Amino acid sequence: MELYSTKQPIFMKKIITLVGFALCLSLTTSAQNPSIIPIPSQAVYPVGKFTLPASISISGPSDSHLKVAYSTLLSKLNKSTGRQVTLKNSGSATIQLSQINKPSLGAEGYELQVNAKGVSIKANQAAGLFYGVQTLLQLMPKEIESKTVAIGVQWAIPYVQITDTPRFAWRGQMFDVARHFFTKEEVKQFIDDMVEYKYNTLHFHLTDDEGWRIEIKSYPNLTKKGAWNVKKVGRFTSFSKPEPNEPRNYGGFYTQEDIKELVKYAQDRFVNIVPEVDVPGHSMAAIASYPELSCTPGADQYQVISGEPFIDWSHGHPEALQDNTLCPANEKVYTFLDKVMGEVASLFPYEYIHMGGDECPKNYWDKNPEILALRAREGLKNSQEVQAYFVRRLEKIITSKGKRMLGWDEILEGGGLPKGTAVMSWRGIKGGVEAAKLGHEVVMTPNDNVYVDLMQGDRAIEPPVYRTVRLTDSYAFNPVPVGVDAKLVKGGQANMWSEQLFNYRHLQYMMWPRALAISESLWSPNENKNWNNFITRVEDHMARFDVADKKYAPSMYEAIVNVTKNAKGELFVELKNEISGLAIHYSFDNSYPDHHYPHANGLIAVPKDAELLRIVSYRGNKMMGRTINISRADLEKRAK
Ligand code: ACM
Repeated sequence: MELYSTKQPIFMKKIITLVGFALCLSLTTSAQNPSIIPIPSQAVYPVGKFTLPASISISGPSDSHLKVAYSTLLSKLNKSTGRQVTLKNSGSATIQLSQINKPSLGAEGYELQVNAKGVSIKANQAAGLFYGVQTLLQLMPKEIESKTVAIGVQWAIPYVQITDTPRFAWRGQMFDVARHFFTKEEVKQFIDDMVEYKYNTLHFHLTDDEGWRIEIKSYPNLTKKGAWNVKKVGRFTSFSKPEPNEPRNYGGFYTQEDIKELVKYAQDRFVNIVPEVDVPGHSMAAIASYPELSCTPGADQYQVISGEPFIDWSHGHPEALQDNTLCPANEKVYTFLDKVMGEVASLFPYEYIHMGGDECPKNYWDKNPEILALRAREGLKNSQEVQAYFVRRLEKIITSKGKRMLGWDEILEGGGLPKGTAVMSWRGIKGGVEAAKLGHEVVMTPNDNVYVDLMQGDRAIEPPVYRTVRLTDSYAFNPVPVGVDAKLVKGGQANMWSEQLFNYRHLQYMMWPRALAISESLWSPNENKNWNNFITRVEDHMARFDVADKKYAPSMYEAIVNVTKNAKGELFVELKNEISGLAIHYSFDNSYPDHHYPHANGLIAVPKDAELLRIVSYRGNKMMGRTINISRADLEKRAK
């Protein structure tokens, strides 16, 4: 049944339209609505469903930019329904894509309508049609993700009227392929995974202490030597120092042909790639390849880092045990950067090059005679100003290649940041706020919200990392803080560092569902966000991930554990849910708790002789997530 009947008299139509509008508002937060992530800016969900015919046709503009949109639709529909799916050049079709001219939709917006006649997607540009197709796929039964014909599915699509435009132009994911190398095919998979949730920017972290991943023809050692280290298994930064004779055969790099292929692959999916060459810190792979880039004696003995500790963080700032910085007082460094940035600029068409600039240890700089001479010559008061001098020189190089410079928020330190430089705020939002006040464009990537390499649940169960960012924190991400000029905030991104990523499956586990939350923070109007409604949709998307065989974390079901100790030294735990509708049960007697076990409520005294706390979450009689086991010794540690 259609909500809007063409046979109704005008006044009835108005009433129905009003009812429809009210329904739309109320239904926007209802669990029955289609589970679209990121939630569209405007949506009406009339009652009814369109059933896909036995033979499905797709038609739309013959634009080469739409090749992927058509082929994705065609192949997913064909594989999962087993029905005939054809692409038509003209005429009416089951799924009709059309280009229109509607300024309010901008470059990426789209309109999507599903009614008794079928599916219509309209947009000004191919990107909008591509995003309309992503939304359409989410409206289809989850079995659309099946790689084989799904049996017993009612292939129907709910009626919708959607008008959708993004909140931010920069909707990014950073992929660190330097700490651990990921193959070209995995990078393509990463791009495929991104675009399903309307991300459009891949920040490609290509160089670091652990590896240099891009072929630079004028400096071949960067990949001959700099792309390889010793394979270690375990926990990064706790690795043993490699022996001199251990094989350095772990790693890899992208040839310039590979990069061209990836750029094209990304472009075909409306993704811009922002290359990052992280300097002057994080440069051990470059120094191991070309020791003359350092001004520290003994650099010719340095090797690409294999995860062994070499930075001392105990002072709250990085102090290098081995100097991993390019020497700002050495002209050879600027010649090197000129050549590297020249080759990088010619490979990546996007307007920005990211120069890193983060976590640069200054302890060697403070004492180095060449750097002290540079300070005297240039009137630089301290090592922060030395870094600012380096940043200004690099900005001239990057702009000379026709690109704009972008860097982590440390590039504000020492002052004098050139005007057109954009700042990526990672140490919370304060760098972004400061940069915007100075008139710089900003990309917000606060580690409190978007560092998807950090733990997402209790540390007793998550692969250990130094900090936690729960799904709630990612969903709370708002890239425009109060008082900041919204025009200067280009957007934000999820940052996937790979110190602890040894394979793509684990990468997916870390990415999802947090990247769902971040996509909604970047695409959807802030006022459309609603945590409980989001979680309902997340669960539907987890079911889709199951069909697609994509890994994700169940951490949102698992308890948040808080441990305290009273003056008498007695331990107490408090167990809270991250999402509503779950009951937490626990045991102290070593047995496995289920929904018949005590229900956690308020402060729970830890029995004097208990050795182990086990915690589970239930929805009704169904266990959700995993069992958390915390030893008494760990409880004691947490209470400190
Ligand atoms: C960073 O996380 N060091 C940018």
